[in-house]
Amino acid sequence: MWKDWIRPFVRPLPQWSTIAVAPPQQAVTATLRWDRRSADVTTDHTVASLKPLSIATSIDAGDAPSLEYTDSTTGKLLGALHLARATSIAVDGSNVTIYHVEDSEHRCLPWPRRAWNEWLQNRVMRKSNTSHHALMDPHSVQQLMIAYLCPRPVILVSVDTPGHRNMFPMDLIGPLRRSELFSLALRNTNVSEPVMRDVRKVALSSMPASMKGTVYKLAEHHKEALGDWSALPFPTRPSRTFGIPAVATALRIRELGIVQAHDMGSHTFFLGRMASDEDLTEGTQLHHTAGFHQAYRRRRNAAFAEV
Ligand SMILES: Cc1cc2nc3c(=O)[nH]c(=O)nc-3n(C[C@H](O)[C@H](O)[C@H](O)COP(=O)(O)O)c2cc1C
Repeated sequence: MWKDWIRPFVRPLPQWSTIAVAPPQQAVTATLRWDRRSADVTTDHTVASLKPLSIATSIDAGDAPSLEYTDSTTGKLLGALHLARATSIAVDGSNVTIYHVEDSEHRCLPWPRRAWNEWLQNRVMRKSNTSHHALMDPHSVQQLMIAYLCPRPVILVSVDTPGHRNMFPMDLIGPLRRSELFSLALRNTNVSEPVMRDVRKVALSSMPASMKGTVYKLAEHHKEALGDWSALPFPTRPSRTFGIPAVATALRIRELGIVQAHDMGSHTFFLGRMASDEDLTEGTQLHHTAGFHQAYRRRRNAAFAEV
């Protein structure tokens, strides 16, 4: 059909693709490179804030390292973020280094489609007025999409105190393997943010891909706390030691003891250690990746299962 042929020329790819992946994702490898040295940071880097767009890792890789994302099967470079060291955080003998994203590139689309798709996507972003687009300029969102070349798992975070209860989705999350820390980057406008700073414990439910609709619906609780646990559209079970209600049908339930909270511009960067870890069932977890990454894999007949 001529319409299928013409579509890429007039319509941008979706920015994000929601996919079903068995955890931990191994499709993409992340490598930090600096001074002719390199380290695998696939399970040791995360997004710490969206504005400024910041990356955290346990490795101090000097002033200007690069973070490269490669296809684990073919070894092909998919994209890279060029970083500038911003600060470091000491946590009980470990160090977490924070980098700002200075520059970026990706190779998921051939040129000139790459530049044309970016132009089309940026035009849509400038026209839309969602709070996400109000927070980040189109150029930074393009850089964020590159950070999502490593598919990011989605969890539901539960908070429970006598006066406040909540459950909401997150994907700007750890782990930071070498320092044995786990991080959560949470918009400082989130209604539970001050409570989390205070109570210092949360439960994390790893969400099955089949629950995508339910997970997205709970995004409203970034702004408004939950009235009652019984208002949730699924059964809960208490987390192992904190007794916080978590998702009964989760793939895995972990409990995070928060040890530090840092202001990082638009987001609060929580750092914590796991207090418990229950593997409940096997299955695919809801993940996000960049739309141009899914398009790249589709061209190679290796598309992620989309949900
Ligand atoms: C699947 C999913 C994951 C999310 N992950 C995060 C996150 O890691 N950190 C965060 O601050 N907000 C996260 N959000 C919240 C949204 O970015 C947004 O702030 C929230 O949906 C409120 O939307 P609005 O302010 O655009 O109305 C997530 C939302 C969804 C649906």
